[in-house]
Amino acid sequence: MKIGALRENYEGEARVAVTPSSAAHLRKLGHEVFVESGAGAGAGFSDAAYQAAGVAVAPNAQALIADVDVVVKVRPPEAAELKAMRRGQVLISYFYPTQNAELLELAREQGVTAIAMDMVPRISRAQKMDALSSMANIAGYRAVIEAANNFGRFFTGQVTAAGKVPPAKVLIVGAGVAGLAAIGAATSLGAQVYAFDVRPEVAEQIESMGAEFVYLDFAEQAQDGAATGGYAAPSSPEFREAQLKKFRELAPEMDIVITTALIPGRPAPKLWTEDMVQAMKTGSVIVDLAAERGGNCDLTVPDARIVTENGVVIIGYTDFPSRMGAQASELYGNNIRHMLSDLTPGKDGVIVQNMEDDVIRGSTVAYDGDVTWPPPPPKVAAIAAAKPKEKPKEPTPEERRAAETAAFRAQTRNQVGLLVVGGVLMLALGLVAPASFMQHFIVFVLSVFIGFQVIWNVSHSLHTPLMAVTNAISSIIILGALMQIGSGSGLVIVLAALSVFMAGINIFGGFLVTRRMLAMFQKS
Ligand code: NAI
Repeated sequence: MKIGALRENYEGEARVAVTPSSAAHLRKLGHEVFVESGAGAGAGFSDAAYQAAGVAVAPNAQALIADVDVVVKVRPPEAAELKAMRRGQVLISYFYPTQNAELLELAREQGVTAIAMDMVPRISRAQKMDALSSMANIAGYRAVIEAANNFGRFFTGQVTAAGKVPPAKVLIVGAGVAGLAAIGAATSLGAQVYAFDVRPEVAEQIESMGAEFVYLDFAEQAQDGAATGGYAAPSSPEFREAQLKKFRELAPEMDIVITTALIPGRPAPKLWTEDMVQAMKTGSVIVDLAAERGGNCDLTVPDARIVTENGVVIIGYTDFPSRMGAQASELYGNNIRHMLSDLTPGKDGVIVQNMEDDVIRGSTVAYDGDVTWPPPPPKVAAIAAAKPKEKPKEPTPEERRAAETAAFRAQTRNQVGLLVVGGVLMLALGLVAPASFMQHFIVFVLSVFIGFQVIWNVSHSLHTPLMAVTNAISSIIILGALMQIGSGSGLVIVLAALSVFMAGINIFGGFLVTRRMLAMFQKS
């Protein structure tokens, strides 16, 4: 079939739905690929680059739409674009059917098959075409870059001859796809990162990325706000109050606040209030990734950067993915080509609109003169919320001391018991065994005991590096080989040289592996 990417008319939109590299994949599926002239200019792909990838360039939108069977784009279609389409043609783009009822009606009237990239069900199989995630990832990363650009200080802490610099403190509110990407970018820049989410199951993800999960003193945290399918539900007023109280405590300390909190189908919850902004230090930066849905911060102005009276910069841009047009187009182009790959099961250039397929059914909003949105629930459940992690209960100093003393006593009792039993057995054996045997046997028993004690006291996670290092140490046999290497017999010399070589591998390899393994446990 013929697939064509339109140029985006939305002001400032730099993305394009097909890139030269995604076009190559589409051609492998048996399709012919077209782009409207200038479609890739904003993302850095010239018409010539497309032509070099075997893509035909159409002079304008009308010519492209008339020529192709499948129209692909990024932003929702304009009414004029839909009107130019004919019955049976397929459109693949963002659609936002909830907000665009009129467009949906128009698609139905035109008999166009509309596939909404924002409606791809969030099931494992569909991750490769999940444009919401790929774009949220870029937005989270870019939010940190914009914050750094507006923040007049380092992110990382430094000790220099000219003075000590503390690390910037960054708070991420909402740890979904964008929030986790922001945590990744901010920690890699060296900031001290804190993150909060109403879904407590993300605490582990936050901590594994090197940030600190902000716990609330709220009994219901484990259930409140956490709905199924990985999405959040609105919080109760009491929970919200506890959350705001915590944020008020944190506001004066934080240098950067990045808010990404969203609840599907609702305006963004207001979480960073005016008094919190006023409590922040001059030069602090807020990046509100929820600006398009009304913003998480009271003072956010969508699509603008403002500076408050107390010198706090608030960024409400809504085009973060487009600000990284080349990267965003590559990822979106891949999402589109994976969608087309599912639509072309025979890889023969023939599109099959299989309405039994969860992913295709879920994202098709208009088909064959009908509105097919909202879809029935998918047969495969969305990745459900994992079991929440409970906040570990902090013991009091007295409890900790008592526990430590009890553990020490028990350990001493065990060891004394073992020594007594061992001593008695040894005596009994000594009565019957010859003296030469006993000498070697005692050395053997003591080495087993010492080895056991050493390994027992090392944490389980460090057993593998410990094995590697004891492996290296066991290569002490190299001494024996070295002593034999000067022997007169040719065979012994060859065998000794071989032993030196192999023990050498053991020594150097053992220490090298240990070093690498220990590096995995070290915080960078
Ligand atoms: P989103 O953009 O709707 O929300 C962003 C974050 O804000 C969420 O983590 C949400 O819990 C949080 N939030 C909502 N209200 C809040 C409040 N009052 N305070 C603090 N945080 C609040 O969500 P996004 O990023 O699109 O995805 C959320 C989850 O969906 C992911 O973490 C994942 O579990 C799941 N997912 C599953 C996918 C798949 O299976 N293919 C793909 C992508 C996401």
